[in-house]
Amino acid sequence: MLFNKKALATFVTCALAATTSFSTLAATTLKLSHNQDRNHPVHKSMQYMADKVKEYTDGEVRIRIYPNGQLGTQRESMELLQNGALHIAKSNASELEAFEPAYGAFNIPYIFRDRDHYYRAMEGEVGEKILEASYDKGFIGLTYYDAGARSFYANKEIKTPADLAGLKIRVQPSPTAVEMIKMMGGSPTPLSYGELYTALQQGVVDGAENNETALTTARHGEVAKIFSMDEHTMIPDVLVISSKVWDELSADEQQAMKKAAKESMAFHKDLWTEMTVESIEKAKSSMDVKFVAVEKQPFVDAVKPMHDAALQNPAIADYVRGIDALVSTN
Ligand code: GCU
Repeated sequence: MLFNKKALATFVTCALAATTSFSTLAATTLKLSHNQDRNHPVHKSMQYMADKVKEYTDGEVRIRIYPNGQLGTQRESMELLQNGALHIAKSNASELEAFEPAYGAFNIPYIFRDRDHYYRAMEGEVGEKILEASYDKGFIGLTYYDAGARSFYANKEIKTPADLAGLKIRVQPSPTAVEMIKMMGGSPTPLSYGELYTALQQGVVDGAENNETALTTARHGEVAKIFSMDEHTMIPDVLVISSKVWDELSADEQQAMKKAAKESMAFHKDLWTEMTVESIEKAKSSMDVKFVAVEKQPFVDAVKPMHDAALQNPAIADYVRGIDALVSTN
């Protein structure tokens, strides 16, 4: 990180003060921070949303996107947003759990049966309630973006939980992710996304877990050559806006933002499918990454107590039941 946190907050506050005044300027420019590269599908989908917001508000509300963690890690961006120094951030349910426990429901391993189940949760009432739950914590969710399924990658095959024994596995700073790795038998090492490439390269960690696009867009395929497809979690990215900023928008502007956010989620669905296929192809052909099929049941069994415990946890039990109720019976 180039800046320490205080300097970063000051920098962002000054940068924002220069461009935003809800009451005096005709157009409002909202700054959006995220930690992915410009080539990542979620960047493209958020650009799509920004274009729609501009269109629907006749240029009155504009969104300027700062990719690659330029304004800080996901955690730092959330802190800036809560301090009023940033307007919009893209994080994911895993990191948001520390700010709003409701997001923990998405992070339970194997809670989703398949992609349709995942979409029913994101698009349905339970997903909407989770987006709204954090208003008093200084932010609300605008939409989810599909982030596929997360699997392990390292320089060895991870085909059973026993293969994780003795391995340091990088996880996001999320209590659920830490617990999952422990229950599967590995050693969890929380690190920010931006630190991971070097950590893998230098052997600070032995492996990580993410969707396939991390291999290419964050170049992790250069330093981890075996992707073992156990698909333990489906954790969506989440676009959040400061509650204060939200309240300062007019009702029409709020509606335009919601509409654009929803449309960008639909745009992202197809883009995600396409770009995941492309990432797999590229990882195989130009990075020499091997994809390994995994028998999931032993992983499912290892973490089953997490689902049971979540149903007993008053902070998330209703959301977990809501998601469970969306399992298709067909
Ligand atoms: C995914 C997700 C990011 C997150 C990253 C991580 O790529 O889209 O929001 O930061 O996982 O593992 O940290």
